[in-house]
Amino acid sequence: MLLHSALMALGASLAAAVPTLEVQGEYFVNPKTGNRLQIVGVAYQPGGSAGYNEEAGRDPLSDPDICLRDAALLQILGVNTIRVYNVNPNVNHDKCASIFNAAGMYMVLDVNSPLVGESLTSWHPWESYYAAYLNRTFAVVEAFKNYPNTLAFFSGNEVLNNEETGATVPPYARAVTRDLKNYIKKHSDRAIPVGYSAADVRSILFDTYNYFQCSLKGDDGDMSKGDIFALNSYSWCGDSSFKEASYDQLVSGFSGNSVPIFFSEYGCNTPSPRVFTEVGTIYGSQMDTIFSGGVVYEYTQEANNYGLVDMQSDGSAKLMSDFLSLKDQYAKLNFTEIQGKKPASSSTAKAPVCESKLITTKGFNSNFTLPVLPPGAQEIIDKGVSPKPSGKLVEIKDWKVKFTVKNPDGTTISNLAVKPLGEDEINQPGSNTGATTQAGTDSTGTSSAPKPSTSKDAAARPGAVILPAVAMGAFAVMAAL
Ligand SMILES: *[C@@H]1O[C@H](CO)[C@@H](O)[C@H](O)[C@H]1NC(C)=O
Ligand SMILES: *[C@@H]1O[C@H](CO)[C@@H](O)[C@H](O)[C@H]1NC(C)=O
Ligand SMILES: *[C@@H]1O[C@H](CO)[C@@H](O)[C@H](O)[C@H]1NC(C)=O
Repeated sequence: MLLHSALMALGASLAAAVPTLEVQGEYFVNPKTGNRLQIVGVAYQPGGSAGYNEEAGRDPLSDPDICLRDAALLQILGVNTIRVYNVNPNVNHDKCASIFNAAGMYMVLDVNSPLVGESLTSWHPWESYYAAYLNRTFAVVEAFKNYPNTLAFFSGNEVLNNEETGATVPPYARAVTRDLKNYIKKHSDRAIPVGYSAADVRSILFDTYNYFQCSLKGDDGDMSKGDIFALNSYSWCGDSSFKEASYDQLVSGFSGNSVPIFFSEYGCNTPSPRVFTEVGTIYGSQMDTIFSGGVVYEYTQEANNYGLVDMQSDGSAKLMSDFLSLKDQYAKLNFTEIQGKKPASSSTAKAPVCESKLITTKGFNSNFTLPVLPPGAQEIIDKGVSPKPSGKLVEIKDWKVKFTVKNPDGTTISNLAVKPLGEDEINQPGSNTGATTQAGTDSTGTSSAPKPSTSKDAAARPGAVILPAVAMGAFAVMAAL
């Protein structure tokens, strides 16, 4: 009896999971509600490319304490998805995947890495298309396929980055998508979508999209057709507009899409700090029939200055003002409405048949005869990767963040923790409001902290504290005292 209830308790704590999404036509759909899901995402690559270190067995999802800190902050920010670029299939991701799952967040995973032999190259792609490379991409599938919050895999990221690469790369990039889809079909219990993440090089963007989303035989079961399409786009800079940022061209260029489309990166940082006024447009009516949201680049501050959070090597972290600006933009939106839309019933979008007239740029590849599998690869698809990595949700006992995290003004955030969500819940702004801001700074913290502000000053200055509503509540209590 005791054992039984212990197991029940364990089962209950393990069972709470985000609903596994499905692709229906051009939409991500939550099968539990029938509603579309708009991706509200952040690129997650702590440490930049150094955060992926094969010899040290380290990748962005290998350290549960760091993941817990970041999942708590991302949950407060209001996101529902992280994009992770470089994962090592041979390290254990169970705790991090379980933490992000409990926090109500999906993972979009790139199967490649920047290391030699771990991605298709832009230059002479045929030289990097071989069995050991594919084996590595399949191993990533094995490592992540069992997590309910694995949303999608990117088969390639910006392999096409100019017109020259448009001449040579497309058949190889499409072949990698085909091989991954064949592998998933044979070895995964559920269909996990696979697609390409494109550089927003406007001269080749729509050819790239057409090349990957068309269907060779005219049927949607085509195994080499991308299931999703995404783009890394930086055309909205500062306080721009739908037209000025040429988002109107994106909407018209992608209209009639047969697969979900979203920004796999956005967030131009000139000027900086950022205002993120694109957020309202991305989730608004001008975009939301064609786009399924987007991923802000990026979580941690690195040399290229796109960070929302500045993290130190001792695990402490400090929010940047961009974090608060983005949070403010999300807070203006009504996510009950945004995440409550049904797929358009009139949708009949069907992939166009692959033919050279789909391609409009001179020199862009229009040969849809794909390269055959490299020697040895069919055997791996047939028998599966060996040895086979595998992942599963595990119980997490403590949700409290172990590191000091500060606001941009140097005040310390208290009671920072992941709030595990219930079964089928997806994170959105307001899900986690448990953290509070202490007045004054902790002198052991980062040296760049400005002069501590009094609680009165902080309360009077909008944006000075991470969680205005809660912090105001705390201040109100202090005032009452
Ligand atoms: C395939 O991937 C697995 C898991 O990473 C690895 O152990 C194995 O050595 C790889 N095999 C080949 C042929 O590359
Ligand atoms: C948000 O949208 C929902 C659904 O349309 C609506 O019921 C609710 O009143 C809206 N909330 C606000 C604050 O406007
Ligand atoms: C198209 O690509 C295939 C496979 O690489 C190749 O065999 C064929 O010659 C190409 N066709 C043309 C017209 O270039």
